[in-house]
Amino acid sequence: MRRSEAEKSIRELRAQIRHHDYLYYVKDAPEISDEAYDGLFNELKALEKQFPGLVTPDSPTQRVGGIPLDKFPTIQHVVPMMSLDSSQDEAALQRFIDRIRKAVGDVGYVVEPKFDGASVELVYEDGVLVRASTRGDGRRGEGVTENIRTIASVPLRLRDSHTEGVLAFRGEIIMRIREFEELNERLMVEGKEPFANPRNAAAGSLRQLDPKITAQRPLDVFVYDLLAGAEDEVSTQWDARAVLRNWGLRVHEEARRVSSVEQVLDFHRDLYERRDDLEYELDGVVIKVNDLAVRDRLGATSHHPRWAFAYKFPPRKEITRVLRIFPSVGRTGVVTPVAMLRPVNLGGVTVSRASLHNREEVARKDVREGDRVRVQRAGDVIPQVIERVDEPGRKRTRAYQMPNHCPSCGTLLLERGPYTICPNGLECPAQLVGRIVHFASRDALDIEGLGDETARLFVERGLVRQLPDLFHLAPGQIVELEGFAEKSAANLVDAIRRSALVELHRFVYGLGIPEVGAAVARELARHFRSFDEIRQATGDELEAVPGVGPKMAERIEAFFREEHNQRILDGLLDDEVTLVQPKGTAASGVLEGIKMVFTGGLGRITRREAQELVESLGGRATSSVSKEIDYVVVGTDPGSKFEKAQKLGVKTLTEDEFLELLRSKGVEV
Ligand code: IVH
Repeated sequence: MRRSEAEKSIRELRAQIRHHDYLYYVKDAPEISDEAYDGLFNELKALEKQFPGLVTPDSPTQRVGGIPLDKFPTIQHVVPMMSLDSSQDEAALQRFIDRIRKAVGDVGYVVEPKFDGASVELVYEDGVLVRASTRGDGRRGEGVTENIRTIASVPLRLRDSHTEGVLAFRGEIIMRIREFEELNERLMVEGKEPFANPRNAAAGSLRQLDPKITAQRPLDVFVYDLLAGAEDEVSTQWDARAVLRNWGLRVHEEARRVSSVEQVLDFHRDLYERRDDLEYELDGVVIKVNDLAVRDRLGATSHHPRWAFAYKFPPRKEITRVLRIFPSVGRTGVVTPVAMLRPVNLGGVTVSRASLHNREEVARKDVREGDRVRVQRAGDVIPQVIERVDEPGRKRTRAYQMPNHCPSCGTLLLERGPYTICPNGLECPAQLVGRIVHFASRDALDIEGLGDETARLFVERGLVRQLPDLFHLAPGQIVELEGFAEKSAANLVDAIRRSALVELHRFVYGLGIPEVGAAVARELARHFRSFDEIRQATGDELEAVPGVGPKMAERIEAFFREEHNQRILDGLLDDEVTLVQPKGTAASGVLEGIKMVFTGGLGRITRREAQELVESLGGRATSSVSKEIDYVVVGTDPGSKFEKAQKLGVKTLTEDEFLELLRSKGVEV
């Protein structure tokens, strides 16, 4: 290929990749498969390799290029990054609004989620990312440009026109809660100290001197403020949000224009109620004067602007006392020291126990029975003890010792690195209970009503000796158990029956293979064509899967070679569980280009499963009905979406018709 031709192809490929990044990260509506995207990317890489002179720093291939630094350069912010006035007190919010009304009269506001991450300034020159820095002291921060470049959702080049000159933005670097947990697991296995919360993990990952390390950390960005530039184009925060999105910056979709305290409270309440369901931590809402000219008139105090205010959620970090420390045996046999606490309210949830992780963590934090500790909760995950709060002069108890024998089955415990392990596998009742709970959990088979208590009863009463037994339970057996009545017993059996139709990645995750989290399970399902192939894969084949290292590959292989596991798997697959075709198999793409909306309750599968199924078959499951939609699947008690579909003449399907449609396309359901 001639250089001029290569130049043209490279330009086109980059434009295409940026466009698909935009659809994926900003619009949340990808149009091509991951494989097709990788194809474009590899083609670009190959051309750039052939013509190294054509590589530019803003090429999508150039995210991880930097060499390790000795220290971060100090960077002067384009505009000082002030902090926010904040309170969790409704009266303080009212005062903020009153003060503004007095100064400039009635004005409109925008309310947005307040992200709990690390705030950064991003500077673009003529559309190209040139600098990024942490907040630092507000005037100057640390230059973390090379690290920020590794975050896939931060565009290296802005889309669209009107990006000449200097544009500066403020945003938050965040880590999703699940990924934070997986990172901590990894760190602990490697003998490193875990992070206390997703915010520290995001900030810590951003402050790595080696960008290659940052590149391996699951970071994401939300941009929420235009600091400088585009003055002619943008006159309100609401406009700014739209313009930023058009430029390809990731702006959180949830925001409202409001003009009263009640509306702010409403938004706050709504987000607060959904707080535990969100993928990342929010610590409140931010209310901002919409009109930028009014903002200028209001100005700032020495610390914070007078035009913005953070109305915070109740904190999820409190101090309480450790009543007792006891060992708890998990599904993989790891024995975790758990602190029983004097009950404390953490952001609306009463917490009475918290994890101390492992033997070494207890020693490092030096937490003993009777101590005062700071505890914290993120999302709906298990709370943790972050640190001991010193009480000078108080007499303390002896340091905690892990037991020598398994508290559940009495087997002699082993030490593996910082962990303590019960080697008795599924013969150990506690491990079986853990396996069942995990198998039934939300990211696995999602069996509603099958939690810790119930699983323990199943095992104690001998109703479940191994996982396949779950599918043979009769309502008559369950109704005998404490806490159950006829209806709840029937519901549970029903939920178990419905869970048997499961997507491959959920099933793989649910097996509880050591170290295989939900993300890796997805990768495995995507990489291999079927469960059989995953099961038979060699270590080398497993290592070809993104996110699977040699250690993990070894453990996965060992899991499937283990005789007891093989028997369980055969039992499950023989006639209990039906695996739904994942992406990349024969049926993939059969719904390519088809858009569906689900409304009302479904009977055989949950709405979420149905939506995931559609997506995995190449279709799109969206939430709003328009003429563009091909089918609206109508369950029981459908909402306004059903009426809208009828009005627009969009075709509607019952649940049975939907399943029939899939079958007609060769999908096993
Ligand atoms: S606007 C002058 N909007 O919260 C301040 N900040 O605790 C303008 N934050 O330092 C900031 N979400 O880094 C704004 N939607 C949002 C935000 C947000 C999180 C951060 C910000 C600030 C911190 C204060």
